Amino acid sequence: MSERQVKIGMNLTGTQMAPDATQEQLEATRLFPADIPGDMRSYTDARQQAIGTADRVGSVPPPGSVKGMLKTAVDKVTGSNPEVLLDKLGERLAFERTGVRLYEAMIAKATSAVGATPAMVATLREIQAQELEHMNLVREAIETLGGDPTTMTPCADVAAVKAQGVLQVLTDPRTTLSQSMSAILTIELEDNAAWELLIELAKKAGHPLIAEGFKHAFEQEELHLSTVRELIRQDLLGQVS
Ligand SMILES: [Fe+2]
Repeated sequence: MSERQVKIGMNLTGTQMAPDATQEQLEATRLFPADIPGDMRSYTDARQQAIGTADRVGSVPPPGSVKGMLKTAVDKVTGSNPEVLLDKLGERLAFERTGVRLYEAMIAKATSAVGATPAMVATLREIQAQELEHMNLVREAIETLGGDPTTMTPCADVAAVKAQGVLQVLTDPRTTLSQSMSAILTIELEDNAAWELLIELAKKAGHPLIAEGFKHAFEQEELHLSTVRELIRQDLLGQVS
């Protein structure tokens, strides 16, 4: 392979390239201190104060849509604080929906970036289709509980904020196959942990049918994770051989 993912070039960010400038930089930090006096403790204090007076990130609407009410006979909302499960289901739905789009961006890399292979694209397409299935699975679960799957719950909102960095990495045309795959790994690691926890939460909240239905998705997510890890491994080892 003539073209490589990691290039050697004139990177000037290291201090060892310019010892004189390093001295000047150290002198500058003494001459021009931070605008806000104090150390990290001041930031912690300010944050603690803000946390004490802040509102929550959104809320969960009470379950009870007509469609949902009809289905509650199947697996009605029981137990205390059903909003906790609905919030996490909303998060999963948002995450899986975003996952489909993230994989679409990853597929563009796997199609045209250095190191791309048709086999990788086929694997990624398969995972992408399953993320879409998972999204619909969660949508059905929310409807069964009488919730509105179009609601952006607080955890869904936070999940979207978290995914921003991954989205930026994947859609940046300069990022390599390796860099993009590592962003996908972040998603799959969370996906894995989240589905496992969601099954436990659904069971504890008194919804064994939903928990049972999620098992297959969790198994698929476990496979996503191992597949992505292996793709990264092969790609990276291929670069040093
Ligand atoms: Fe996944």
